[in-house]
Amino acid sequence: MTTSDTATDAQLSALETRFEDTIARSERIEPRDWMPEGYRKTLVRQIAQHAHSEIIGMQPEGNWITRAPSLRRKAILLAKVQDEAGHGLYLYSAAETLGVSRGELTEMLIEGRQKYSSIFNYPTLSYADVGTIGWLVDGAAICNQVPLCRTSYGPYGRAMIRVCKEESFHQRQGYELLMTMMQGTDEQRAMVQESVDRFWWPALMMFGPPDEDSPNTAQSMAWGIKRNTNDDLRQRFVDMSVPQAEALGVTFPDPDLKWNAERGHHDFGEPDWEEFMQVVKGNGPCNAQRIAHRRAAHEDGAWVREAALAFADRQREAARA
Ligand SMILES: [Fe+2]
Ligand SMILES: [Fe+2]
Repeated sequence: MTTSDTATDAQLSALETRFEDTIARSERIEPRDWMPEGYRKTLVRQIAQHAHSEIIGMQPEGNWITRAPSLRRKAILLAKVQDEAGHGLYLYSAAETLGVSRGELTEMLIEGRQKYSSIFNYPTLSYADVGTIGWLVDGAAICNQVPLCRTSYGPYGRAMIRVCKEESFHQRQGYELLMTMMQGTDEQRAMVQESVDRFWWPALMMFGPPDEDSPNTAQSMAWGIKRNTNDDLRQRFVDMSVPQAEALGVTFPDPDLKWNAERGHHDFGEPDWEEFMQVVKGNGPCNAQRIAHRRAAHEDGAWVREAALAFADRQREAARA
């Protein structure tokens, strides 16, 4: 909330100094603290986008719950998809401390005014995709999110600590699923490789556009919201994934991927940024389907929200009486 309407110039500059000192000391900004309007807006946009990604991200995998190949796999997948719902709720709650409501954010999502991660606009075509999403998509999410545990806004950072613990279970179950399939038949191994081929490039796109095309990164880093650039995190993810792919016995669909001893990192090819822009703009393979499904779920749930509000009203009246 800004106090600039009422504060004098001197008061405002004292508030700004206090805010900047808090950031410089790597301490947290809390909901009660004064913050610049740009900082608040950037956080609302980022946390909402993150919350929407958790909720929309339930769809591609939820698609397989009824067709899980065993009771064990079904239990694991159900637990994972439920965790994602929980992540969405922690994050909507963190956003609400900045003066927006979960209802408003949901409206913005289903009207296409706020975004979610482009990765969830790709279809899940086989059960191997459940494993690949756990390994690569939750893996990329972990690379993005571990530094956010130290983000400057308190409620966001604290939500991320819990989220990251659960994400590491997600990644492990995915890798374990793929490892099991790789020890199966030739057909199962081919399913895993085909799935990895489809998800590798979209997973690299999860880190966002290259640094030179990411105009907001510098300001977000100055405010301590972001801790690393998109390209740094993408490099970290590639370096982490290559030995895991070797242990699994799969390859990545990138002829330019190789170790560079001089840099001490892997070199790799450029994702198709035109495809990325198309998916972000709403033209990916599943964008329309994901939003239509989310909208229908929201409308189907209207009676639950009405009932909860009526119940809360009655409790309040009873307390007053
Ligand atoms: Fe999550
Ligand atoms: Fe996850």
